Amino acid sequence: MKLSLTYAFGVSNFTVFVKPPLFRNLHHSVCLSLKPTPPPPAAAAPLKHRMPLFLRPPTYTAPMSELHKWHEWAKSLASSVGTTFEDLDNGPDSSLLCRELKWLVEDVVEDQTLPSLTQSEKCERNVGVRVSLEELYKLWKERIEDRRPFQYIVGCEHWRDLVLCVQDGVLIPRPETERIVDLVGDVVLDNEELREGLWVDLGTGSGAIAIGVGMMLKSWGRVIATDLSPLALSVAAFNVQRYDLQDVVELRQGSWFEPLKDLEGKVAGIISNPPYIPSENISGLQAEVRRHEPRIALDGGVHGMDDLLHLCKGAASVLKSGGFFAFETNGEKQCKHLVEYMETAAGDSFCNLNIVPDFAGIQRFVTGFRK
Ligand SMILES: C[S@@+](CC[C@H](N)C(=O)[O-])C[C@H]1O[C@@H](n2cnc3c(N)ncnc32)[C@H](O)[C@@H]1O
Repeated sequence: MKLSLTYAFGVSNFTVFVKPPLFRNLHHSVCLSLKPTPPPPAAAAPLKHRMPLFLRPPTYTAPMSELHKWHEWAKSLASSVGTTFEDLDNGPDSSLLCRELKWLVEDVVEDQTLPSLTQSEKCERNVGVRVSLEELYKLWKERIEDRRPFQYIVGCEHWRDLVLCVQDGVLIPRPETERIVDLVGDVVLDNEELREGLWVDLGTGSGAIAIGVGMMLKSWGRVIATDLSPLALSVAAFNVQRYDLQDVVELRQGSWFEPLKDLEGKVAGIISNPPYIPSENISGLQAEVRRHEPRIALDGGVHGMDDLLHLCKGAASVLKSGGFFAFETNGEKQCKHLVEYMETAAGDSFCNLNIVPDFAGIQRFVTGFRK
């Protein structure tokens, strides 16, 4: 299954190394243990983690004919949408929903060599499936009637060369954010101090950026990934474990720089995709985002700049001299505002400020160095 959905955000569209394995068994609930001693109180409670469909064992069986019946029903529901969602809020049209249905079947049915579901009306052969038929009906109803994001239905998102687990309550990583990892790649290429340094991903969500950077730096540097949300951190921990990066990526819970008090002036690089949607724009987002993705991951205050400005101030004290930062924004206006702020209000802390476009050509990132 390959997904490349962008739930556009309005106009243009996150400690020290946890050595003990965070999970003994990936198929059990995740028990979040962020710092070896003592664990932060808010993170001590076990959080229920949902396994992505494609990682579940095929513990159910269903006759092909019944799967066929479900598939026909699901297809007709998808077809009935036409361009209604697209016209309403730039949501998915029927053809995208039909593609999602195909991906759902790929994730759910064990034997992919079986005859196509569309030709299996009379076939009584039983097939292994990863969820019950009843659950399949429920999931597809949620997709169409509640506009629940497809990535929450299947429990994962393809991002760069990774397949990241996601679930309700945790932001689905967006394709535009992938570029941040390349920006880090560019600066570490000929800078040993940065390559071997300590990096921080503030507001890590599913762990996407921290894992992308961790894969790149694994023989050299280290990454600390923070988030305010314990649920996001439990999902990030699962993803870190899946990519065997427990010795590279450390997770810390808390608000922005609060969990980094021990690292003032020691950090080689800060990367962050913080919430940056102006509050009043949230109600105009497509239903998948507005209704289902966590507001804490989206809402950047009146102008969408609250967290970005906070990150600038903190970066000045946490970064070491020569340290690099890359922040994602909503677009050109926020980029310019941030650069102006750094050149004026943030004193004389930064140099080589740059605005960098995303793959779609939208001015998306502000990068620079600590003097
Ligand atoms: C836009 S999402 C980005 C998630 C992830 N980095 C990505 O790109 O997919 C913003 C993240 O910031 C986290 N967040 C919001 N407020 C925060 C705060 N005060 N301190 C730390 N993290 C925060 C949210 O929980 C969310 O995971």
